[in-house]
Amino acid sequence: MTDFLGYKNKRVLVSGCFSGMGEATARLLLDLGAEVHGLDYKECKLKLASFTHVDLREPAAIDAAVGKIGGKVDALFNCAGLPQTFPPLDVMKVNYAATRRLTERVLPLMPKGGAIVSISSNGGLGWSRRVPVLMQLMQVDSYEGIVKWCEANAETVREGYAFSKEALIVWTMMTSTHLIKRGIRINCTMPGPTQTPMMAQFEAATAASVLDAAAQPIDRRSTPEEQAAPLVFLNSDAASYINGVAMPIDGGFLGGVATGQIDLKAMMANAAS
Ligand SMILES: NC(=O)c1ccc[n+]([C@@H]2O[C@H](COP(=O)([O-])OP(=O)(O)OC[C@H]3O[C@@H](n4cnc5c(N)ncnc54)[C@H](O)[C@@H]3O)[C@@H](O)[C@H]2O)c1
Repeated sequence: MTDFLGYKNKRVLVSGCFSGMGEATARLLLDLGAEVHGLDYKECKLKLASFTHVDLREPAAIDAAVGKIGGKVDALFNCAGLPQTFPPLDVMKVNYAATRRLTERVLPLMPKGGAIVSISSNGGLGWSRRVPVLMQLMQVDSYEGIVKWCEANAETVREGYAFSKEALIVWTMMTSTHLIKRGIRINCTMPGPTQTPMMAQFEAATAASVLDAAAQPIDRRSTPEEQAAPLVFLNSDAASYINGVAMPIDGGFLGGVATGQIDLKAMMANAAS
């Protein structure tokens, strides 16, 4: 059989490889014959080519980790993330500022044909209504500057989760037009509710009716493997014409919302009641 995805002997980096989607992604990449390097602040149990302990809330630690891994990186998987049960600034740091920093540090190591994918969320689906303020944030290009901007705009950032995921989508789209000139693609996914360790945090912070409604129309949660496969596809040779995309991996939820078959307003009213 031909190597459709083309990961054999590719050198790849996965952030958030300890659990959930990142762990499932690293496992799948190992199965596909890639040389897998991982980052997390919790020890990963997989047999990776290397694992580096990094707290993504520390920009200097990100720089040091990339320096240690060195060499060529063919594909980057930004899978680490924090839910809204953490302080908003930590959520913005890990979900947006660190994703940006890690990507920017890895880019000099990435050859033509390289690819980057990040995990946003259906929680970021409101991005198009907040483009002006998101564009302000896009202009801030240092980790420290992003943190300062978030501190000064706490009422916009709110609990941090939705805003960080919106920022990730807009940043992916913005960056894709420049990177493709160097032969590098960048995309992100928008998962629906997925049964990972983070789900317990969502259950603590969100009404059960909203989580159930977000699993429409397929009426079940995704597995981490069902999220890993599209991530691996998007960074593969098979996706060579896909760039700047925020791809819903949600069993049809966004399609239902776009065609008025799923009523987002009623869903939110339920959450508030
Ligand atoms: N589970 C869902 O329903 C869902 C839905 C949409 C989007 N997402 C997103 O998917 C991504 C993966 O989450 P998951 O559901 O697999 O949850 P998870 O908690 O299993 O995975 C998150 C990973 O990020 C790592 N991480 C967190 N903070 C870190 C830090 N400061 N430094 C280094 N590593 C850190 C964790 O150790 C873990 O390995 C996240 O970005 C999350 O926001 C999840």
